[in-house]
Amino acid sequence: MREPEPFKIKMVEPLKNLTREERRDKIEKAGYNVFKLRSEDVFIDLLTDSGTSAMSDEQWGEMFKTEQAYAGSDSYYLLEETVKDIFGFDKFVPVHQGRAAENILFSTLVKEGDLVPNNMHFDTTKANVKHKGGTPVNLVREEAYQIDNQVDFKGNIDVNKLRDLIEDEGVDKIPLVMLTVTNNTGGGQPVSMENIRKVYQLTEEYDIPFFLDACRFAENAYFIKKREKGYNEKSMEDIVKEMFSYVDGFTFSAKKDGLVNIGGLIGLRDDELLERCENLGIIIEGFPTYGGMACRELSAMAKGIREAVEYSYQRYRHQQVKYLGDRLKEEGVPIIEPVGGHAVFIDGESFLPHIPKKQFPAQALTVNLYIESGVRGVELGTSAFGEKDKDGNIIPAEMETMRLAIPRRVYTLNQLDYVARSVIGLYKNREDITGLERTYAPELLGHFKAEFEPV
Ligand code: F0G
Repeated sequence: MREPEPFKIKMVEPLKNLTREERRDKIEKAGYNVFKLRSEDVFIDLLTDSGTSAMSDEQWGEMFKTEQAYAGSDSYYLLEETVKDIFGFDKFVPVHQGRAAENILFSTLVKEGDLVPNNMHFDTTKANVKHKGGTPVNLVREEAYQIDNQVDFKGNIDVNKLRDLIEDEGVDKIPLVMLTVTNNTGGGQPVSMENIRKVYQLTEEYDIPFFLDACRFAENAYFIKKREKGYNEKSMEDIVKEMFSYVDGFTFSAKKDGLVNIGGLIGLRDDELLERCENLGIIIEGFPTYGGMACRELSAMAKGIREAVEYSYQRYRHQQVKYLGDRLKEEGVPIIEPVGGHAVFIDGESFLPHIPKKQFPAQALTVNLYIESGVRGVELGTSAFGEKDKDGNIIPAEMETMRLAIPRRVYTLNQLDYVARSVIGLYKNREDITGLERTYAPELLGHFKAEFEPV
């Protein structure tokens, strides 16, 4: 049974929806790229769950109380307590968001020609590895690519493939192994505790540092509690502690499970690595006790991380995401199953089988959903993850999805019903949707600024 929301609403933000004609005009002017829309022209914004959470009264309260100081603000010490209590780490560097953590960590560890294995890299992780001359390697289990395979823990890395990579390439070429919890690129799918433990054992054996990309650690922990044998009776806090007990460090975008609008962390165990990350952080982010943010942001993060591991909150969160997934599935819309932790992912290839992958079906779907309803999703397919060969031809991405990411504590079920009705309406008229040609895209993270034209 679905439980009621464990909060009530104290402040609201009015929404308006443009007409279909206005939306058609806006998206054309935006080069058929939803990143270039003004958010005021969007009715329900499911572009991302990152930095879009509603904060609690207690988070706002902590922000007001914080001392603003260049060095030694109380907010740093509040965050230190949280990082220790929740993650079991006493060394950390605050940063303004996840990609800053990636930049600092990879600048410190990754050199030209290195390989960085992960279950699946998200766009910024992939770009930051490449930016340092490394090659990101996705080793997620095969089932992750099978859209309707119902197997649990589809985010797990294939440990045999990881062992083969280490043995074939040699430990010297692998500066760290990462696991992304939950696996955003592959549908917000969780990683099991057993998988984390096995990667820990393997990386111990070869003496390779093991890091979590921990953006959605609390959603992952809830899945472990609900689905993995032996964890049902354990508290969320104990599960999170165990997850982090296996790793040498983590990068964290607090814009997701930190329930804040900006913020991030690098968690570390090694003193020398801490020293190097702090020193680089001072050059590109700021002094370690504020990490490129106003001190009040650290206080909000310290509180938000604690709220994210509350069981009643996670139960509400997962029920809401699943509600949208179930509505779509009932009407035959092809989604990645089981439904993930932060979003519903629609399979663009089976939704629009008449559009070739080189004409960006998931992007076409995203554009048409906006035109028809004012709902903004995001393409996670060939625009975001595709490559180009030497002659500049498009190499399509392995998965071709449109993600409907649900901001935390923001939308009601009525609003999600509207989203479901809109997607279902589009599905019924899917033959009318045509493909797109990409006319512009920068080299790294090109999807943010890409431009398209209808074919
Ligand atoms: N790792 C993962 C798994 C992510 O999902 C993100 C961001 C990052 C790292 C980078 O964090 O944005 O704070 O720099 N994902 C957002 C998204 C943007 O929409 O999924 P950031």
